[in-house]
Amino acid sequence: EASGRAKIKETRNIAQKLEESGKQIVVFWGSQSGTAEGFANRLARECHLRFGLETMSADLSDYDPETIALVPDTRLVIFIISTFGEGDPSDNTAGLWEWIHRSENVSLVNLRYVAFGLGNRNYKYYNRVIDVVVEALEKLGSKSLMPLGRADDAGGGTEEDFMAWKETLFATFRQQLGYVEREIAHEPTLAVVEDESLEPIDLHNGEPVHYLNNSKTAAACSPIKAISMRDTQELFTSSSRSCLHIELDISSFPELSYKTGDHLSVWPSNPDVEVGRLLRVLGLTEKQHVPLIIKSLDATVKVTVPTPTSAVALFRYYLEICAPVSRDTILSLAQFAPTPSAKAFLSGLGKDRTAYAEFLARTHINLGRLLEVAVASDPASWANLPFSFIVEVLPTIQPRYYSISSSSIVFPRNPSITAVVSNTPLANDSAQSIPGLTTNYLLGHHQANSASLLSGSFPTNQSASFSLQGPKNALEGRRIFAHIRKSKFKLPTLASQAIIMVAAGTGIAPFRGFLQERARLKQMGKKVGSTVLFFGCRNPDEDYLYRDELAELQRTLSDELCIFTAFSRQGGVKVYVQDRVEEERETVTKLLTEDNANLYICGSASMAREVGQRVSRIMQEKQGWSDEEAKQWAETRKRSNKFQEDVWG
Ligand code: 2AM
Repeated sequence: EASGRAKIKETRNIAQKLEESGKQIVVFWGSQSGTAEGFANRLARECHLRFGLETMSADLSDYDPETIALVPDTRLVIFIISTFGEGDPSDNTAGLWEWIHRSENVSLVNLRYVAFGLGNRNYKYYNRVIDVVVEALEKLGSKSLMPLGRADDAGGGTEEDFMAWKETLFATFRQQLGYVEREIAHEPTLAVVEDESLEPIDLHNGEPVHYLNNSKTAAACSPIKAISMRDTQELFTSSSRSCLHIELDISSFPELSYKTGDHLSVWPSNPDVEVGRLLRVLGLTEKQHVPLIIKSLDATVKVTVPTPTSAVALFRYYLEICAPVSRDTILSLAQFAPTPSAKAFLSGLGKDRTAYAEFLARTHINLGRLLEVAVASDPASWANLPFSFIVEVLPTIQPRYYSISSSSIVFPRNPSITAVVSNTPLANDSAQSIPGLTTNYLLGHHQANSASLLSGSFPTNQSASFSLQGPKNALEGRRIFAHIRKSKFKLPTLASQAIIMVAAGTGIAPFRGFLQERARLKQMGKKVGSTVLFFGCRNPDEDYLYRDELAELQRTLSDELCIFTAFSRQGGVKVYVQDRVEEERETVTKLLTEDNANLYICGSASMAREVGQRVSRIMQEKQGWSDEEAKQWAETRKRSNKFQEDVWG
């Protein structure tokens, strides 16, 4: 058995894998942030539970794409693939992407497939990757069993789009393929076994596990390190909001380096209050440190958390316990409800899309909170909820990306990031909000650091509840697990090249690095080209990030740098960066045409889209172009990296 399993593990041939493992369906995922991966895992489980179909979920990069052509028509291939950034495939989709672009002579007439794409309408190339993949598959002769499904995250609708598509797929299963649905019952794919005989294991460092099994992913990312913080600072002057400047020190890691414009990926840990809540409601508080061994019961299911481990380590470091619980998960939780009222509550919420949406809008819900609410008037705990179920349904924790806000030429060993602490207010209750996981984790570090610097002791406020380990270790606690991820958002090679940068809020981050770099080059006697920055924030006295530094940079780059500001909450009229770009149309169009300036936009996706539209429009008016010509212009510039974006949300 063991050697058979090892053999199955090794193959990169998906047809062979399906044959050997006896699976009828493979759900391939191409995922950057983990959403498509989570969907694929859920879908695989559900195909099995609802229809008894032997189904596996698979990382696209674990198989050679050409072997997809070998899959016989007795099997079904499902693709769930996201599009991110500038219409790019995720790292683990790169192999498939290359293959479909060079596979004219392949025949896919035997391939039976369905596909679902994840995208965001605010981005220019909405769901481009799945569209291109499906087009290529059809061209090579394969036929989809049903129309392509697409999720649009612009309104936060990805989850519901997926559920609706899944139901269409299951209808196809019943009607077209004659599959028969059965009563759902939990069948674990993982076994979680307590093993008190193990030496207590020290997992408190929480080192992240990251499956860098794909050389493309590995090439884009540095190893993960516990990087110490050199300095943290509050950048806002308003008492209600917080924006952190965090400076790291990578000097003890010669293998780490970064380039201006790269990203830092931060691996957060969950706050004690949520870890404690989940342990409590599951009746695990006493047993939180008992060593656990996690085994896969299915050769195609990977264990994506470290093992051996413990409940507290899983909840603190390795599982995304603070995320809202999906409607699907709520429905499947109902079967384990300890009381009839909890069962009715969960089924009601899980079945009713509107009720679920309303509940989420007014309640801060994660797994622990949901379980508590479900048994509110009842002391019954959820001790009977199988631990394997929790490990299966909770996504493994993912790093969060931040644009590095320093220049690698000026600060080669001290990259910094700039992060607004996010707290999402709840509808109907402005007093309560949902804390953003990673930024509040960073804020915890900042507050602990400030307090320990001031008094040499540890603060007692809520943010100290992050797992820093007491006064003695306050300095040690100033480390975050992080890695550096390469980006394409780069200054032109020639400093004399003109550039236009447009940022709102923390979108200023990479441009701070750009400006530091240009100032340094000028001091070194290099010729620096026109450098124009548009920066938008609420109010000059509240959130004008790096105001003093920008003034200093302005002095150094006195002839080159020109800063235009837009304040959205100063006085009556809202002014946004795109309004200022339009006002300065003479300067902007002149730079873009006569100086062939590079254009950079950084900030929220909706801001970037609006700025892009305004720039195209003023160019169109100046040049007397048709709509099509303006579109072509923007696309050509993007292709030649003369128009770059670093956007989020
Ligand atoms: P606000 O007052 O409407 O929040 C940083 O968040 C700055 O970006 C704020 O001044 C914010 O304005 C502004 N902003 C929000 N949405 C924007 C958009 N679509 N385009 C440009 N700026 C935007």
